Amino acid sequence: MSTLSDTPARYGPISKWLHWGMALLFAAQFVSAALRWWLPRDHAVRDFFWSYHTDLGVALLLLVLLRGAWGLMNIKNRPSVHDGLIGRLATVGHLAIYALMVVVPLIRVIAAAGSDRGLSFFGLRIFPAQQPEITWLTSFSEWHGELGWILALLIVGHITMAVGWHHLIKRDGSLQRMTR
Ligand code: HEM
Ligand code: HEM
Repeated sequence: MSTLSDTPARYGPISKWLHWGMALLFAAQFVSAALRWWLPRDHAVRDFFWSYHTDLGVALLLLVLLRGAWGLMNIKNRPSVHDGLIGRLATVGHLAIYALMVVVPLIRVIAAAGSDRGLSFFGLRIFPAQQPEITWLTSFSEWHGELGWILALLIVGHITMAVGWHHLIKRDGSLQRMTR
C-alpha cells in the first residue's frame, strides 16, 4: 500500500482531503438550501447562493462515488471502529451519512431528467428538457429537501460526537486520525 492509503492508525491523505474538502462543500450546499428556505423569493442574496446549488450538488454526487470507491479499496486498512455499542452506532451513523450523501443528490438528478428544464452540469447539457414532463421521474424530487435536512441533522450529530464526545470528553485521539 502506498503512503496515500489509509492505515489502521490514521486516515491517509486522499481520505482526509475528500473528508475535509467535501465537508466544506456540504456546508456551502446547506447554506444555499437554508437561504432558499429562509429568504423571500427574488432576494439577491438568496439568488446568488442558489445559483450554484445544482452544479455543486452534482459535483458532490460524483465526489461521494469517488470517496466510496476509495473507502472500499482501503476497507481492510482503515482505522477500526470503536468497540461496544457506541462503536456500532458510529458504524451505522457513517453508513447512514454515506447512503444519504448518494440518495439526496441522486433523486434530484433523476427528477431533473424528467423535468421541463432538464439538467446541465457547469454548462454541459446532461439531460434535455422534457415537454411534457415525465411525471414518474419528476416525482422523485418530493423527498429531496426532507432527506437533505435529515442528512444535515446526521452531520450535526456526527460533528457533536467527533468533537464533543471523542475529542473533549473521552480524549481518545479519534479526531487526530482524520487530522494528523
Ligand atoms: C448532496 C447534495 C445536495 C444537498 C445536500 C441538497 C440539499 C437540499 C435541501 C436541504 C433542499 C431544501 C431547501 C428548502 O427547504 O427550501 C434542496 C432543494 C432543492 N435542491 Fe438540492 N441538494 C443537493 C443536490 C441537488 C442536486 C444535484 C440538484 C439538481 C439536480 C438539486 C436541486 C434542488 C432543487 C431544484 C431544490 C428545490 C426543491 C425541489 O425542487 O426539490 N439539489 N436541496
Ligand atoms: C467539523 C466537521 C467534522 C468533523 C470534526 C468530523 C470528524 C470526523 C472524524 C474524527 C472521523 C473519523 C471517525 C473515526 O475514525 O472513528 C470522521 C469520519 C467520517 N466523517 Fe466526518 N467530520 C466532520 C464533517 C463531516 C461531514 C460534513 C460529513 C458528511 C457530509 C462527514 C462524514 C464522515 C464520514 C462518512 C466518515 C467515515 C469515514 C469516511 O469514510 O470518510 N464528516 N469525521
